Amino acid sequence: MNKEPVISKMKSAFEITIPSEIDHALNVLKNAEIIMDGEGIKGRERYLISVTAILHDIGMINAKEKYGSTSGPYQEKEGPAAAKELLEGEGLSDDEMERICYIIGNHHTPSKVDGMDFQIQWEADLLEALKKFDKGTSQDMLKGIINKNFKTKSGLELAEKILIMN
Ligand SMILES: [Fe+2]
Repeated sequence: MNKEPVISKMKSAFEITIPSEIDHALNVLKNAEIIMDGEGIKGRERYLISVTAILHDIGMINAKEKYGSTSGPYQEKEGPAAAKELLEGEGLSDDEMERICYIIGNHHTPSKVDGMDFQIQWEADLLEALKKFDKGTSQDMLKGIINKNFKTKSGLELAEKILIMN
């Protein structure tokens, strides 16, 4: 249950196509780990959520190649097959693989969030998107998005710590 091989595969996949995505994937993983620490998520569940975070945007590669666009719907369409290929040989059960593919295939669609694993991925990824706003001029908007989207206690605390000015 070592996530390092999956990190290496993600890096080599993005390296030659969209290298800027490597840091994003690692940042989302870091956010997910902080949330999982706070929520007491350990063992297999922690590994599976970590793998999801590492690979969540992997569909961008084929989306870019096939459609010339990495927009959300194309990423979601291309993500599951790409993730499955990279996870070959990592010892995942069919159910685990299916769950990871479901989350990756819907990771831009909030109405599809249906469990703690998906919720953590949602918060970890959204946090990176929200960091891009100018904190000084976006406090009201950020507060609104945070209140609507962050449902884990640790995710909410992390978002407020990073984004909200006192
Ligand atoms: Fe992302």
